[in-house]
Amino acid sequence: MKRNSGPVMAQAPPNIALLKYWGKRDSALNLPVADSLAVCLDDFHTTAKMQRADAPADSFVWNGQEMGPPYRSRFQRMVRFARERSARDEVIQAEIKSTLPPRIGLAGSAAAMSAFALALSEFFDMGLHSRELSALARMGSGSAARSIPDGFTWWHRGHLTDGTDSFAETILSHDAWPELRILLIILDTEGKRVSSTDGMVRVAQTSPHFEAWTHQCNFLAPIMLEAIQAQDFEKLSSLAQSNAQTMHALCMTAQPPIVYVSSATLRVLEHLEELRRAHPLFYTLDAGPNPIVFTLDGSLSTIESSLAASFPRASVQACRPGPGARIVKGNGAIK
Ligand code: PMV
Repeated sequence: MKRNSGPVMAQAPPNIALLKYWGKRDSALNLPVADSLAVCLDDFHTTAKMQRADAPADSFVWNGQEMGPPYRSRFQRMVRFARERSARDEVIQAEIKSTLPPRIGLAGSAAAMSAFALALSEFFDMGLHSRELSALARMGSGSAARSIPDGFTWWHRGHLTDGTDSFAETILSHDAWPELRILLIILDTEGKRVSSTDGMVRVAQTSPHFEAWTHQCNFLAPIMLEAIQAQDFEKLSSLAQSNAQTMHALCMTAQPPIVYVSSATLRVLEHLEELRRAHPLFYTLDAGPNPIVFTLDGSLSTIESSLAASFPRASVQACRPGPGARIVKGNGAIK
């Protein structure tokens, strides 16, 4: 078989969950307790470049820094899988460039892990199809499973212990709902205080509401799927916003409580509720203080100006639904 001798490059988007992943049935493989749904963004891609290294050990450089734990062990886990699967043993040098900082609760690690998974599969000529790639990305970061396929995605929790049935797939293509707009409101770029992994473990171990949360997500997944496929903004609004609120409320019922939002977040949410009286919009929040607003193109400029006037220090970035991970052809230079 012909081997990939030169560098390979892959690019992947962040994805924003509409139905949140919060709870693992297997921490080593990042297998979730519930299904989740998300959409890829058309901006803020992460690029992963991979090449053979004449060195004693693999190297993983992310935004100019050699990765230490916990990220290093996640990359290593994926590389081990690739080596076993391809029966090859080259030492690799991986360079990852993100446009969104990781650990701010805006899916930066999902983009990085999925770009890395695709580059790995290309470098080792693994010939994986989308479902297998999604499962490989999942080993790096659970939510990365949803940055492999195009557009709106469903990540199936799966039931098998090896995780081969826990992958994401497209439920609506990125260009099927052209009026949809997604606004990232960046209030704070400091890393989150409790990582998603630690937060999920603490909630599962200490919250009396964890089981109810799990059942609710699995119950809501097919209902939200219908709302997305019907492009029913109103129905999606109430389902997605309430799911995000429930996830944050759930975190506050852990011992000790986990609070990802800040006072600035709460002020923005109050403002969004005001705007919601006159405009189609809803918000969601990942494990961080930065709200994400979904709206339709007719209301975008009003919402943007209103946020700029009331929160001049916030950075507001408008995106659309976007495609999933892809191989980048070129000269191998990471810009
Ligand atoms: O994939 P992780 O371990 O970064 O966890 C992501 C968790 C949330 O972003 C809060 C929810 C989600 O479904 O993306």
